[in-house]
Amino acid sequence: MTAIKNLKDLYLDGIKDLHSACKQSIPVTEEMARAAKNADLKSALDASVKGTREGMASMEKLARAHGEDPGGEHCKGMEGLVAEARKHALDARFADEDTQDAAIIAQYQRLAHYAITGYGTLKAWAKRLDLSDDARALDEATAATYEGDETMTKIAVKGGVNKAAM
Ligand SMILES: [Fe+2]
Repeated sequence: MTAIKNLKDLYLDGIKDLHSACKQSIPVTEEMARAAKNADLKSALDASVKGTREGMASMEKLARAHGEDPGGEHCKGMEGLVAEARKHALDARFADEDTQDAAIIAQYQRLAHYAITGYGTLKAWAKRLDLSDDARALDEATAATYEGDETMTKIAVKGGVNKAAM
């Protein structure tokens, strides 16, 4: 068990947790992109894999800048979310492809929201710790993940995935 002495330790723990979360969410997002029927959904998932890789690289950079091993944590939360995504959006048997697309969006958003809450908290702590470069990197990661999440809502609601689902 890691000893947390102060906010900085907690912050670094969070960076490593998110690095692990990003890493674990990539393969399942790629699988969901392959399984998606809607073309906009497919390309949004592909774009989000790219964004997650960037987020992961950013967390790696921050961890290393503080002399930490970015691979030092395993995020159990994301492990659970990935298992849920597999179960509900990939392994379930769907008679209707549009309904599967709706399931994919729902599961993708759970993964994205875990990252958004993580980045947001870490950004606040980075500011408190006067780590302005870190805060900027976390701000960018938050904005990119938010954007991906909103694109997904648009595809579900305006793009017609929910409407097409029977
Ligand atoms: Fe976690």
